[in-house]
Order: sequence, then C-alpha cells, then structure tokens
Amino acid sequence: MFLYFLMAEDLSIVKGTKEEEYQSLLPQVKGLLDGEPDLIANLANVVAALKEQFGWLWIGFYLVKQDELVLGPFQGPVACTRIRKGKGVCGTSWAKAETLIVPDVEQFPGHIACSSLSKSEIVVPVIRNNEVVAVLDVDSTELDEFNATDKQYLEEVISLINF
Ligand code: SME
Repeated sequence: MFLYFLMAEDLSIVKGTKEEEYQSLLPQVKGLLDGEPDLIANLANVVAALKEQFGWLWIGFYLVKQDELVLGPFQGPVACTRIRKGKGVCGTSWAKAETLIVPDVEQFPGHIACSSLSKSEIVVPVIRNNEVVAVLDVDSTELDEFNATDKQYLEEVISLINF
C-alpha cells in the first residue's frame, strides 16, 4: 500500500507500436487529470506525460486569448510566445478548427520555425462550445512522424481535459 502511494505520480512507460503506447498512456493521463480542476496544472501534466512517453522535440499548448494564441504549458526548447490567427501551422489549425498533420514543415507555406530542429508537426485544436479555445502543438525532429493514429489519440487526450 505504501509503495502504491509512492509510485502514484510515476508514469509507466510502455514501448510498442504507437497505438499500444497511446493505449497505455491514455488511462494514466485520465488518472492524472482526475479530481484536479486547475487548467494550467492539467495542461502541464498532459504535455509532460506525452514527452515522457514519446520523447518528441516539442509538445505544448497555445491558448486563445483575444485575437492571438499565447504560449501555455509546454515541454521542449523555448518557443514563440504569440501567434496570430491564420499564421503558421498553429494559427491555421485555429482558423480552420481542424487537426493539421505536416509531414515536412519546410513544405508548409508560412510555417513558423521556433526551432530549426523541427521537421514535422501535428496541431490539434481544442474545441469547446463550437469555439477553438486552444491548440496542442507537437513537433518532431523526424520527417513524417505523425499520422492518423496520432490525430485520433491526441484528439482523445484533449477530450479528457476540462477547459
Ligand atoms: N511551428 C508552429 C509554431 C509553434 S512552434 O513549432 C512551437 C507553427 O508554424 O505554427
């Protein structure tokens, strides 16, 4: 019992297919969010859990504040703090209210390069009451890292968060 409480905050990292890794992570993310109402605390733990499991270069939230996206909790190198609607991958995902998968960031017109190490990217909008309230942005050092599996599970992760 004592050991259980000691380990309660540790993430168990499973290595397998992407699907298996998400399936192992999802209930743990649910557990981390359970009973905690503070949004920033929850966003911080979600990006930390994704970073621990997948190790991607940059994982973070941008929050919609007035007419801009403003940097929220993230893991990875320092990043641009503000992005306007329609700008870059994040601002485009916001404007279209849809998930964008970018296999090669150099091929995305207007991509905002926060880190020269980023090669591919996925941006998932957080939609509440028909409005985009934030986006989750994930960057990889590998080309073509993200696919429909990431879209499905990252959207599921986001659905667990009470914005
Ligand atoms: N590449 C993003 C900007 C955010 S950073 O990657 C963290 C974009 O084009 O919107």
